[in-house]
Amino acid sequence: MEGDSLSAASITDNLETHFIGRRVICYPRLTSTMEVAKREAARRRAAEGTVIVADEQTAGKGRLKRIWLSPKGNIALSVILYPDVAYLPSLIMIASLAVVHCIEAVTGLKSQIKWPNDVLINGRKVCGILIESDVKGNMVDYAIIGIGINVNLRLSDFPDILSTATSLSHELGREVSRLDVIRQLLVEIERLYLTLQTGGSIYEEWRDSLVMLGRRVGVKSGRTIYEGVAESVTTDGSLLLRHSDGSLTKIVGGDVTLRE
Ligand code: BTN
Repeated sequence: MEGDSLSAASITDNLETHFIGRRVICYPRLTSTMEVAKREAARRRAAEGTVIVADEQTAGKGRLKRIWLSPKGNIALSVILYPDVAYLPSLIMIASLAVVHCIEAVTGLKSQIKWPNDVLINGRKVCGILIESDVKGNMVDYAIIGIGINVNLRLSDFPDILSTATSLSHELGREVSRLDVIRQLLVEIERLYLTLQTGGSIYEEWRDSLVMLGRRVGVKSGRTIYEGVAESVTTDGSLLLRHSDGSLTKIVGGDVTLRE
């Protein structure tokens, strides 16, 4: 099913959403869905919920300027949103929770979120999320949610990530329909985005889906490495780290490693 074909029509037909994924642009191959989404959002002012999907990315972007491996058989997509500035910190929560819900609905597999926005199955990364936005003053020009899911990735072909990554097919021992995953994902994103916009909260569920809370961790943030216990997260998505001297550090972004 590595070659299961994705088309805009197969994604949008009878999709149970109001605006997320009503317009889908599919590419067999491109550099990065983030780049195309940004162009669509900035210059053409694409409708909110427009989705860019690629079968393969040649320059997939990860967090912290890393490269994201995006071979055929995986999912690489970006969703264009125009949220109120107050909702920007919640996009991380929406995206990661949507992936967790979607994976469970389509495959029955349980996954967890590693702060800030990796999705893990059995301790290995199955999905990476990148949020990019353009904000002028208090106005959000656009926000793009980029989601990469290892769906039918054969890990034996990628020895460098064998010990840290997994894929849905690897966990299940069979291939998974990317179409089913994408369609469910779009439904979940819209549901959570609307929950937020109608005054609901998704923070508690996000916090409770995080691995590592209450555990000793190291956090690399910029050039600093912090050590402590991951105590909690704030409603703006920051991590609260308790140090051995009792002090608390609020960390906005970084990479967490389990210390025990
Ligand atoms: C990370 O874990 O570092 C984030 C990875 C995000 C990858 C996705 S794939 C779809 C979208 N397009 C990109 O170039 N990156 C994101």
